[in-house]
Amino acid sequence: MFNLILFGPPGSGKGTQSEKLVEKYGLVHLSTGNLLREEIANKTPLGMEAKNFMDKGQLVPDEVVIGMIDNCLDHHKDAKGFLFDGFPRTAAQAEALDKLLLLKNTSIAAVLALEVTEEELVKRLLNRGKTSGRSDDTDESVIRKRFAVYINETEPVAGHYKKEKKFQTIKGEGSVDDIFDSLSAVIDKKMK
Ligand code: AP5
Repeated sequence: MFNLILFGPPGSGKGTQSEKLVEKYGLVHLSTGNLLREEIANKTPLGMEAKNFMDKGQLVPDEVVIGMIDNCLDHHKDAKGFLFDGFPRTAAQAEALDKLLLLKNTSIAAVLALEVTEEELVKRLLNRGKTSGRSDDTDESVIRKRFAVYINETEPVAGHYKKEKKFQTIKGEGSVDDIFDSLSAVIDKKMK
């Protein structure tokens, strides 16, 4: 199994690159943001609880997202590997992921972090907000809140993977194809 984490702030291109990477490498894409938005669209109790946090730019409680990931891993027992997008976002989520993967005799092979300036991130998200229907993209104060949450709660998770020498940064600005090529070059090396 080859398991990858795509790391980076809101708007850094994790979702965009994940779609291309899962196609190229045959991995299962696990995006906690997409899973939560599906729950909201289906008006489930979990979705309704999550919406309150997401609309404010806050993180959904750890136990909710860890439970979702646990279910997804169980649903894809024959997967060649997983691409985690937007997860883990807290130290508790990173520890839980290690344990869940260990139960399956596997682990994270690499964490690739997309680096983009805050100015470019705000521009991308406000632009997407015009058409995406995502309520957390239309209000700049909610976007700024998501960045603050990223700096305070998610960035420290990098340390967890740096200790294991699994963390690598990739320039996340430029064309989607060029960034995809940079990511692919690193993944190809890791897969050898
Ligand atoms: P989530 O859905 O994960 O959103 P996010 O991290 O805020 O990331 P985005 O989807 O906004 O950005 P992205 O990096 O995927 O970039 P994208 O490719 O879309 O989370 C939303 C909320 O859910 C959280 O705030 C939280 O409440 C909750 N949540 C989710 N996971 C959670 C967890 N694990 N724990 C707790 N709560 C959780 O690109 C962005 C835009 O830029 C697009 O319009 C795209 O077309 C454009 N773009 C992409 N690449 C380029 C490029 N190279 N040049 C120009 N434009 C580009």
